[in-house]
Amino acid sequence: MLNETIAALLQTTQLPTKKTVRGWIRSRRDSKGLSFLVISDGSTLQTLQAVVDAGTPGYEENLAHLTTGASVAIEGELIASLGKGPKVELKASKVTLLGAADAETYPLQKKGHGMEFLRSIAHLRARSNVFGAVFRIRATLAQATHRFFANRGFYYVHTPIITASDCEGAGAMFEVRANTKEDFFGKPAMLTVSGQLNAEALAYGLGRVYTFGPTFRAENSNTNRHLAEFWMIEPEATFFDIHDDMDLAEDFLKALIDAVFAERADDVELLNQFIDKELIATLKHTRDSKFVRITYTDAVDILAKSGHPFEFPVAWGGDIQTEHERFLTEQHFKQPVIITGYPKDIKSFYMFQNDDGKTVAAMDVLVPRIGEIIGGSQREHRLDRLEGRIRELGMNPEDYAWYLELNRFGAVPHAGFGLGFERAVMFCTGMVNIRDVVPFPRAVGQAAY
Ligand code: 4AD
Ligand code: MG
Repeated sequence: MLNETIAALLQTTQLPTKKTVRGWIRSRRDSKGLSFLVISDGSTLQTLQAVVDAGTPGYEENLAHLTTGASVAIEGELIASLGKGPKVELKASKVTLLGAADAETYPLQKKGHGMEFLRSIAHLRARSNVFGAVFRIRATLAQATHRFFANRGFYYVHTPIITASDCEGAGAMFEVRANTKEDFFGKPAMLTVSGQLNAEALAYGLGRVYTFGPTFRAENSNTNRHLAEFWMIEPEATFFDIHDDMDLAEDFLKALIDAVFAERADDVELLNQFIDKELIATLKHTRDSKFVRITYTDAVDILAKSGHPFEFPVAWGGDIQTEHERFLTEQHFKQPVIITGYPKDIKSFYMFQNDDGKTVAAMDVLVPRIGEIIGGSQREHRLDRLEGRIRELGMNPEDYAWYLELNRFGAVPHAGFGLGFERAVMFCTGMVNIRDVVPFPRAVGQAAY
């Protein structure tokens, strides 16, 4: 096949054989009478080396332009290579310069660049080794997600991006308006903060479903873990209680790690070397631990007794901040932690109310370096309790009429969660800023590209 990728070429077993490599020059080294061109094409972290003799057609006349970043097609013979590194190399018989890349102005020369600089050239950074690795891992994680849920009988559903209901009650939403007509939707509409309520409706029809789509929050905070536009995976399963929900979350994270090691071992090695020296150890440890499960009450107790100088005080009834989450998972337990039984007043209206009258069947999964990676709950399916909570919070039950109706007809226990996809990519790549795991980040003050 003409258009073979480097990933495919490196697997070639019948050698020698005529092949063409198409890609970008990573580096060129000249020796007496010949050049070594290292070519990459993004299909893999690996590169293919082309050995070009002085007399090769297309070589000498283009030599000035055969520089880092230039695109080329090189025909030749794929042969077994001596020495270390890839097992094959290409003995060139013809070089075609496709597009030059001016050596003075092309920003991605061979040397490593800082993350901040690369973020300022987001349209070019996918060509670097680190971002290539991150975005390939991101793709692997997306596919592993679909496989994981398909294998467990979950149907992939699509929920609206434009919505009139505020699922989380967090208030940080973007409004959607048409520039042609006032009140286009007949009422205020927003970009969704979660597909959950719609997913619950579909779970009542299909049993087990999951969404995987864009999610929007007008987070006005400039943190390393928040985006204004991010992707969320939200499974929802009927006949699941909070324990089933925790099992599903733990299995899911482990399946994602398995996929990274099975499919992207070289990329994860690179990130371990250049981004986080503990990456592989952390992932393996997570894969092999049984996640600790504790109640919110016990978590607050541990934090209060820790003697650790937290910036935010810890007290029953208050939020568990990122610093607390990280202390629990990184220092106290040294493994992933699932916290359940949060006070109802700091969680959303739809969560199952525990018998103590104070807590709800919520769960947050915490992992090292990230803190909360998953948030979920068993849902309140008892209509009177659900409606009671909506009123208690001063919300109007009429605004949730369709949602309440789900549980008016054939209500059953059900549960689900949301995994922040970018946080999962951060966890699996070691990247420290969430803006570096999505190709074109949208955050407060940032919507370039
Ligand atoms: O904990 P959250 O707010 O839960 C929900 O939205 C539920 N409706 C999910 C459900 O039960 N179906 O968000 C879920 C996850 C968080 O744990 C976090 O990983 C991620 O979404 N997340 C964000 N990721 C990036 N940027 C933001 N601004 C995020 N806000 C939440
Ligand atoms: Mg949460």
